[in-house]
Amino acid sequence: MKKIKLKELESCLQQVDTFESPKLLLEQYPTRPHIAACMLYTIHNTFDDIENKTVADLGCGCGMLSIGSAMLGAGLCVGFDIDADALEIFNRNVEEFELTNINMVQCDVCSLSDSMSETFDTVIMNPPFGTKHNKGMDVFFLKTALQLAKTAVYSLHKTSTRQHIQKKADEWKVKMEVIAELKYDLPASYKFHKKKSVDIEVDFIRFSAEKLLN
Ligand SMILES: C[S@@+](CC[C@H](N)C(=O)[O-])C[C@H]1O[C@@H](n2cnc3c(N)ncnc32)[C@H](O)[C@@H]1O
Repeated sequence: MKKIKLKELESCLQQVDTFESPKLLLEQYPTRPHIAACMLYTIHNTFDDIENKTVADLGCGCGMLSIGSAMLGAGLCVGFDIDADALEIFNRNVEEFELTNINMVQCDVCSLSDSMSETFDTVIMNPPFGTKHNKGMDVFFLKTALQLAKTAVYSLHKTSTRQHIQKKADEWKVKMEVIAELKYDLPASYKFHKKKSVDIEVDFIRFSAEKLLN
């Protein structure tokens, strides 16, 4: 198994460039390097769902999670995002890190078709939470992710929505496990944020893509 120390992964991810002019309506908050490194380290070391696997990153932004997956030995990681400006930064990051196991696709995740069903082993994402006139976007991303994944989906969701997410998982007959509860500090990147950063509670969840029989 590919061995990279957690600290080493985090310090590499600190070199990833993020959104230059974040778009509020697209909820463009980068995953902090510390959180991204902890998530990916766990997915790799505890569940072995990255190395030599095909990985999709939905709402990849500037590529924080994709780049970390590629470093941990993903066979191929494909990032999907609607925003061309974010993908341009992602592309620059990929060139700077000299990674060859990454692709990216500009598209609306809501329009990914059924023909891509079970195309990836693993899906990772920090989806929009659906709080900016895009209610339900988190669940939409999750549903799409579960269609694309053969094995598992790893995602971040606001802790306050846990019951709702559990209800959806039950409805779709998928097993979900809250791996960690995180304090997610959103930097004050938007004008309406008066404080320097705002802490929100977020669940890091693993969903098994295999359907439960009963
Ligand atoms: C919270 S950010 C996460 C960015 C990146 N994954 C990271 O971890 O740093 C959510 C991302 O979803 C993208 N996004 C929002 N709505 C989308 C949609 N309908 N289809 C595809 N991407 C979308 C945004 O452009 C943004 O990059």
